[in-house]
Amino acid sequence: MRRVHWGSQIGFILATAGSAIGLGNVWRFPYLAGQNGGGTFLILYLICAFGLGYFMLLGKLAFGRTAQTNIVDGFQVVAEKNHKSISRIWGILGGWLAFFNAVLVSSVYVIVIGWTLCYAVESALIMLGLKQIRITQDTFGTLTGSFYYQFFWGFLCILMTSWILIRGVKKGIEKVSLVLMPFLFALLVFLALWILMLPGAEKGIAFFLTPDFEAMGFKADGFHFNEFAGLLLKVLGQVFYSLSLGLGVIYIYGSYLSQSGDLLKSAKWVVLLDTFVAFMSGLIVLPAVFAFGLEPSTGPALSFISLPFVFMKMTGGSFLMFLFFVLLFIAALTSLISIYEPIVSLIMDKLKLSRVKATFLTAVFNLAGTTVLLLSFTKVCPWTVNGKDLFSAIDVLTGSYTMPIMVFFCCLFIGWIVSTAVIRNIQNGHSKSVSKGFKRYLRWTLRVTAPIILLILFLSALFGE
Ligand code: ALA
Repeated sequence: MRRVHWGSQIGFILATAGSAIGLGNVWRFPYLAGQNGGGTFLILYLICAFGLGYFMLLGKLAFGRTAQTNIVDGFQVVAEKNHKSISRIWGILGGWLAFFNAVLVSSVYVIVIGWTLCYAVESALIMLGLKQIRITQDTFGTLTGSFYYQFFWGFLCILMTSWILIRGVKKGIEKVSLVLMPFLFALLVFLALWILMLPGAEKGIAFFLTPDFEAMGFKADGFHFNEFAGLLLKVLGQVFYSLSLGLGVIYIYGSYLSQSGDLLKSAKWVVLLDTFVAFMSGLIVLPAVFAFGLEPSTGPALSFISLPFVFMKMTGGSFLMFLFFVLLFIAALTSLISIYEPIVSLIMDKLKLSRVKATFLTAVFNLAGTTVLLLSFTKVCPWTVNGKDLFSAIDVLTGSYTMPIMVFFCCLFIGWIVSTAVIRNIQNGHSKSVSKGFKRYLRWTLRVTAPIILLILFLSALFGE
């Protein structure tokens, strides 16, 4: 069957940026920066995103474009193009593990995106004067304490995602990204400008833009390597998460590319846009929190507890809060769509099902996963793993173990087994010839640097450091 392709390069860039830009940028990045020295985190993030993340993204996109098929069969197809025969284990470690990751991550994702939708609707009701209750700390507690409430919002998100995916790559994913992403950028700039004008915001800006060398481990009594390494691992984890590297998403979006598009340029744009949104989100959340004298290091609760509190104290706050949660919702929706796509594509190919049926099956998996997670929040089935609720356990399992393992095998495969075919593919559609130095850097990133870092990430999670 002929492979579907993106309709335009801009459509592909915005869809891939839509995948990368998600909860990771607007929710996770500001709270991680808040907890880890502000400017210090930002600088390390920029170095890792452009020095490492960009090359990994490029490698995976080129792998997908060479394969032009689902992620499990892709390993075999590209090995053949590179005149190599490989064991089926690669398809399992790289492909099925990506499928497994996408199924688990989508269940966690649906719950959080449901919260954002709920907050967006609540703030709209307050803004329109249809609801008097203010959003307070208790709102989050009430929301996360109710199975039905979260199920309802999560289910709505699943319906929207499925509706878009059923329409296909060009008419669904691409079309929606072409409309939603520019809107997201406009919202982001508007909110940042507004927040930056608040009295007191300059403290947050200084915190976010000035590196704190103590947080990097440079203390009065010398350099603390362990602290620096711990921080670097957090930064790297965030880069991989933000660039959607462990889910098969970048691969599958690459597989819908025709050979005539300029991959180098597109990958650069995706990383630039992704970093821009993380940066601007930091510029919204941290100055807002500082302007009202709150702590920037409250962690995951920063956007759902501290920020609403800040908005509620501002003139026109419910309007701004509405915009912020719409922004978060759009970012998360385009990411959820992309997390579904590798699952849908694999089901379509392996079970020979139509896109509609495969999407339906993916949504059912997702709903089942979400229901189990939500049940574990309740007293009825308070399942835990190692003392953690299932939600946190899955977050740790995928973020620290299964996603790094999948990316580790993908990098080894691309770097050592099929690098000739994949690196040759990068040249397709690029008008100038790619320099030898660039190719060498790319090859060694995939062969050595990325696998070593991923291994360290994995081992440090395993041994608790
Ligand atoms: N890359 C997506 C995010 O940042 C998964 O949320």
